[in-house]
Amino acid sequence: MKWWQNAVVYQVYPRSFQDSNGDGIGDIQGIIERLDHIEKLGADAIWLSPVYRSPNDDNGYDISDYQAIHPDFGTMEDMDQLIAEARTRGIRIVMDLVVNHTSDEHKWFQEALKGKDDPYRDYYVWRDPVNGSAPNDLRSTFSGPAWEYDEQSSQYYLHIFSKKQPDLNWENPKMRQEVYDMMNFWLDKGIGGFRMDVIDHIGKVPDEKIVVNGPKLHDYIQEMNAATFGNYDVMTVGETWGATPENAPLYSDPDRKELSMIFQFEHIGLDEQPGKSKWDLREMDLVELKQVFNKWQTEIGENSWNSLFWNNHDTPRILSRWGNDQEYRVQSAKAFAILLHLMKGTPYIYQGEEIGMVNTPITAISQADDIETINFYNERLEEGYSKEEILRSINAKGRDNARRPIHWTNEKHGGFTTGEPWLALNPRVEEINVEKALADKESIFYTYKRLIQLRKDNPIIVKGSFTLRFPDHPAIFAYKREWEDEKWLVIANMSEETIPFALTKEPKEIKAIISSYEKETYDLNQLVLRPYETFAAKIK
Ligand code: GLC
Ligand code: CA
Repeated sequence: MKWWQNAVVYQVYPRSFQDSNGDGIGDIQGIIERLDHIEKLGADAIWLSPVYRSPNDDNGYDISDYQAIHPDFGTMEDMDQLIAEARTRGIRIVMDLVVNHTSDEHKWFQEALKGKDDPYRDYYVWRDPVNGSAPNDLRSTFSGPAWEYDEQSSQYYLHIFSKKQPDLNWENPKMRQEVYDMMNFWLDKGIGGFRMDVIDHIGKVPDEKIVVNGPKLHDYIQEMNAATFGNYDVMTVGETWGATPENAPLYSDPDRKELSMIFQFEHIGLDEQPGKSKWDLREMDLVELKQVFNKWQTEIGENSWNSLFWNNHDTPRILSRWGNDQEYRVQSAKAFAILLHLMKGTPYIYQGEEIGMVNTPITAISQADDIETINFYNERLEEGYSKEEILRSINAKGRDNARRPIHWTNEKHGGFTTGEPWLALNPRVEEINVEKALADKESIFYTYKRLIQLRKDNPIIVKGSFTLRFPDHPAIFAYKREWEDEKWLVIANMSEETIPFALTKEPKEIKAIISSYEKETYDLNQLVLRPYETFAAKIK
């Protein structure tokens, strides 16, 4: 077994984690101050969102120098210290690798802008106009066209994300080699691996409007593996919006020498209208959610590895999204945690999830920071949508929800900063903060801590088979895990109703391994499950 198969990864979004010098922006020294928290939780690795030099058009996902630390976050010495101090606690640092695109302020792009004959020109994707306009109608993920016109050379360049994030041309072998050299620079520092941003985009064929899963995608990943991390005991996780159970093994079958695992989003799209954008809302249906998890638990095969997550820096807080962030905040947080962490795969905890942080609705676009949100607002306004309707989508799905600073204490600004925070905190600081969670043995924090420990102690969680039970029940999410002669049953009431429920063939009295209420024994023949009541138990 590889170390990352029973590992739990904690994601740090550095701007919002801990500010150490009062400028209102989280930084590397702040993360070092808070390593105790992550160690106490029991996580094995930190996925660190980008800390590189960047003009911050997309909060660090637009990198202008891969081998320099953004001064807001500190220095390379701070980074070396973080890697070393984390290691002494048994925590590995997984760096965010953003190589589908750079910033337009990266020196390669600045060179490329000099003209068609510049040696760096071909590091990016340039096309001549067609009939006086863009080569085709490819759209940017952040609204508007994916082509930007460069007056000076009378050509367009491709940007799947913002126009300050020009796409790299992976057809160019020199560019690829420079990326591999950069990766080796980081590997030599002793990092724990890479989280690969939109990696399924790198084989794009823009002329055929192929963005994900291009024909050369896996050749590039194999080449990258051989040239860089293949020689290290690290984990690599590909952000793959375009993954399916069928193509998952292409990335993560060890024989193919590509990545450790994928990070796919099928469950995350279930509150969106099919074929429309992430902003076009509908109710999530639990039966569908169960089907999607069942599919990923059972259909990717033995030689493939998946990630498990509810949240990251791009998605809203799960409690506000599909749980209850008011009356049943604690119970629904524990229900989501137990349900996910007893499945097969590598779980990711997004900062603040372990204390049940919630979304932060805004009342005007001036309160937003995220480029995707702001571009969407302007686009929909032009298309004639009402402000109310647009804000409803933003409050449900906008990325700022997850990006607000962490509440460490009930002090001003939650102990995040002594200055003015770069983004306002959620107002529920007194009610939801780390200090309070640590002082309460029944808090969400200790449910997560216990789940991480269970994974370490019980191979069934890592290796067992998965069987969905009661697939059509509209409120109960239940599954069975089996390994050797052990069997575990996980039952969750994912609703706000009290639900009577019976498993007639199962034992009457069982002792819960973990539960979302403080209850220890359950009678499987006559369960009465309270709102979000969830438990796991061994059965015969
Ligand atoms: C990924 C990141 C997201 C970023 C985008 C472009 O989806 O998670 O935050 O905006 O890629 O780099
Ligand atoms: Ca700071």
